[in-house]
Amino acid sequence: MMTEEASASQHEQTQHWLTRQQGPETATEAMELQALLRHHEYRYYVLNDPLISDFEYDVLYKKLASAENENPDFIVPDSPTQRVGNSLNDGFATANHIVPMLSLENSYNAEDLINWDRKVRELSGLSQPEYCVEPKFDGASISLLYEQDRLLRSATRGDGVQGDDITLNSRQIRNIPLSAGFSKFGIEQIEIRGEVLMTKKAFEAYNSKLIEEGIPPLANPRNAAAGSLRLKDPKEVGRRRLEAFLYHVSWFQIKKNSDEAAGQPLPQTHADMLKMLWQCGFRSSVNEMKIAVGIDAVIEQCKIYESQRDALPYEIDGMVIKVNNLPLQDRLGMTTHHPRWAIAYKFKARQATTTLIGIEFQVGRTGAVTPVAKLKPVFIGGVTVSSISIHNEEYIKEKDLHIGDMVLIERAGDVIPQIVKSLPDLRNGTEQEIIYPTQCPVCKSQLFKEADEAVWRCINVECEAQVVEKISHYVSKDAMDIKSFGEQQVRKFFDSGLMKDIPGIYTLDYDRIATMEGYGKKSIDNLKAAIEASKMQPLHRLIYGLGIRHVGETMAKALAQEIDHVFDLQNYTFESLQKLPDVGPKVATSIVQFFSNAQNIDMIKHLEQLGVSVKKIEQKVAAEGESKFGGQSFLFTGTLSKLKRSEAEAMVETLGGQILGGVSSKLNYLVVGEDAGSKLEKAKKIAAIKIISEDDFLSMMG
Ligand code: IVH
Repeated sequence: MMTEEASASQHEQTQHWLTRQQGPETATEAMELQALLRHHEYRYYVLNDPLISDFEYDVLYKKLASAENENPDFIVPDSPTQRVGNSLNDGFATANHIVPMLSLENSYNAEDLINWDRKVRELSGLSQPEYCVEPKFDGASISLLYEQDRLLRSATRGDGVQGDDITLNSRQIRNIPLSAGFSKFGIEQIEIRGEVLMTKKAFEAYNSKLIEEGIPPLANPRNAAAGSLRLKDPKEVGRRRLEAFLYHVSWFQIKKNSDEAAGQPLPQTHADMLKMLWQCGFRSSVNEMKIAVGIDAVIEQCKIYESQRDALPYEIDGMVIKVNNLPLQDRLGMTTHHPRWAIAYKFKARQATTTLIGIEFQVGRTGAVTPVAKLKPVFIGGVTVSSISIHNEEYIKEKDLHIGDMVLIERAGDVIPQIVKSLPDLRNGTEQEIIYPTQCPVCKSQLFKEADEAVWRCINVECEAQVVEKISHYVSKDAMDIKSFGEQQVRKFFDSGLMKDIPGIYTLDYDRIATMEGYGKKSIDNLKAAIEASKMQPLHRLIYGLGIRHVGETMAKALAQEIDHVFDLQNYTFESLQKLPDVGPKVATSIVQFFSNAQNIDMIKHLEQLGVSVKKIEQKVAAEGESKFGGQSFLFTGTLSKLKRSEAEAMVETLGGQILGGVSSKLNYLVVGEDAGSKLEKAKKIAAIKIISEDDFLSMMG
């Protein structure tokens, strides 16, 4: 562990390298900066407690990288600059594990655990053995070999005896240290085991990116982690934000020259072994592990963890129970399949098999045609699943789906259920191929697919499905928020010819509506009032409501901040749009396309004529009680623990404040939740922004 003095000197060194003009000029200076950067990586990736900002880290990193560039002699294999290796060749080299990577015996209930404990007690002669109970991380297992503290090789499990050499890829996982502190325990070589994971948050972000790009999402974070480890491009592995938990030492060798063997004693228990891994620079399961004496305490721990499963930031599929005493582990030994000193306790499955009974093709507001699998309803992890979006044609081919197939479904935590695979071995010959339509299932016009896209689209802007979806989006809560106007109403009015486009909302024939079933005077008055009120909605809601592809709520807010009138967006070019905060080429292309379409321009003009505000509305003089935050702007970043982001934003707006889309000098308050990232760093550089916690915010609210 880091001593106070050590961290003080690291602080001085950090300041020294941040303020010094020139980078390292001698090999000794380069070593100092390398060690410093390794320390900051450890603080960030293992302890989750960085001492410097990402920006400061980048400054230090660049100083080292450019010095190493000019003086290649400064480069050492464990320099932080050496994470990015060359691309991998076609296949992976084979790596022989020093000790085979065995599996674990599985248990599913308390009785199984009691039986296992009985065997341990019989073999050990102990009446109440001490156990370690730790999460069974649901990722991809990995084996790491270190020699003289350096990461020598990393391998997948493979067949247990041989795996794939994925060293270049694991060098990209920031909490796998390139050099670790084993020599202080007198260890020369060591083979350690752990699990590589993708957190739920990283997985969801990764899947949304895939969906946005028209690429089928992955079924669960486990597949995402396993697939990422076998990528051919180590840089891409780095981008996937994988993490590793280490939980086992399979083999080690003490330094031959006993004089060199350092004073720290070798661990005698599994818990101390996890502590040693932590002290050597790894994220081990030491903080997640609980010691339990006797099997009743073990069972209780398993239940506690199972009830907290959804709150964890990563997936676990059970618990692993291990005999704590290492000499006793040795005495108990292994079978050819699993160690006798450990057992897995598996949680209730979140996978199930069911029948794919049909496919429905749905047309979204952008015209994308999405196949939706209709399933024989099946209960998984607390919900009944009866339909699942299956994204596109490639996905159907990749999963080899046929109507009538038995399919394996998984629901990982709160993640949307996915089809993992079809089970072709269970076919009986009656299954039918899925025929992808060539015509829009709603308006029957020809479907098109752009060269770089995986989805087929209906490009008929008058296609009923798209129009209904577009109007429904415009009236929705996060857009123009027209209360009591849901998708069902939209469809009803559309089908009865009362409304054929978005401006049609403002020319509804209320006399005719009064003749329709279910519409009394009161509901018509409410509808009229809600429609009228929507005319004065803030500009960002209108921008979002227009349904421009890739322009979500946050982007709409960011855009509204830059303009006064919706037509100002027409004056931007592909290039100038990208100078706005967070606007990339995709968003820019889509905004340019939207505003170069005459029908869209006519529609906005029509809305303006009908009284819809298409420009920034001056901050209204808020009514008493609503003016608390009048003229003040807020932005939320990171995960809030007490409020939902939308609730907090609504509070600000109700009290007359404004929510901004990004950090700029116009921002008054940045409210920081957990895991805040670049917004916080950016805000720190603008003195006028007040950075406050969620609690500060709540007390401001009174
Ligand atoms: S101990 C020799 N501990 O579960 C025993 N395994 O189903 C070494 N796993 O292959 C394994 N979390 O990949 C151990 N805390 C944990 C684990 C864990 C996940 C995986 C591991 C193993 C598989 C068996």
